[in-house]
Amino acid sequence: MRRNDRRIISPVRRWYRRYGRSLPWRGESDPYRIILSEIMLQQTQVSRVLGHYPRFLRRFPSMPSLARARQRDVVLAWRGMGYNNRAVRLHALASVLVGREMRIPSDAASLLELPGIGRYTAHAILSSVHGLPVPVVDVNIRRLLSRVFWRMPSTADMRSEPEIWRTAASILPRRGVYDWNQALMDIGATICTARLPCCSRCPLGGICASRKRMTQAGRGTRKSEPGVHGVPNRIYRGRIVEALRRKEAGFRAEALGRVIHPDFTPHDIPWLKSLLEALERDGLVRITRGRTLPDFRVVLA
Ligand code: ADE
Repeated sequence: MRRNDRRIISPVRRWYRRYGRSLPWRGESDPYRIILSEIMLQQTQVSRVLGHYPRFLRRFPSMPSLARARQRDVVLAWRGMGYNNRAVRLHALASVLVGREMRIPSDAASLLELPGIGRYTAHAILSSVHGLPVPVVDVNIRRLLSRVFWRMPSTADMRSEPEIWRTAASILPRRGVYDWNQALMDIGATICTARLPCCSRCPLGGICASRKRMTQAGRGTRKSEPGVHGVPNRIYRGRIVEALRRKEAGFRAEALGRVIHPDFTPHDIPWLKSLLEALERDGLVRITRGRTLPDFRVVLA
């Protein structure tokens, strides 16, 4: 494939004009709104972000309003989004950017030094805030490009991230890169889906190496996450933050354990402590009294 290859670019552009999703952050010119959307979309599906994005913007309409807020109020407003450490990093990011009079770096290396910005978000900001011709690779684009350019044995397979970043860069059109990136995301999210791709509707069906040739992977092929009683620790961490949101005074260790897990026993205290320490490292909670177990209290940071 080569840069600006019409066999790829034209059908994708045509498809996007007709079927691209109309999302509130598309066409936005306010960098705060763009950055907020990209941070929300890092680990949360579009359908969920659509409900939370306008609500969050009503509460914190600008980067300075977010920077002025208390961290705990930002975490409270993040409610329902999951992965609460993003709220902590977003708040830190707002403080840094407001301190720099909102000058948003226009190179990836400087963006990567900011809190909460990884490679994907850095490139998304370069292409949407600054209009620069850089690729982005999220999981939808990684799945789509893996299948189009390599013959994937099953729907669970994908090529490595470095390979896909290289491929995404190699097919980038010369103009309209922001829309191009959004188009690939939409095809990956709505047509070239993880379990049930709809090849007959795909604008890249004509050149796709995997078209209608992949075996269907079962549901059990996801990597299992660490957890207890079949529930991932991620969910327990979310329950801890949720419990602390409701009770400003915080909890003693055992009482908190029983709130997040009905069968909690003193044997589970070391496990609870490891969850709390991870949350403390992320700046979400504070462990306030006596570090010796089980005598400590936990509050939202
Ligand atoms: N996922 C990550 N960024 C996105 C965007 N800008 N639009 C839709 N889905 C996304």
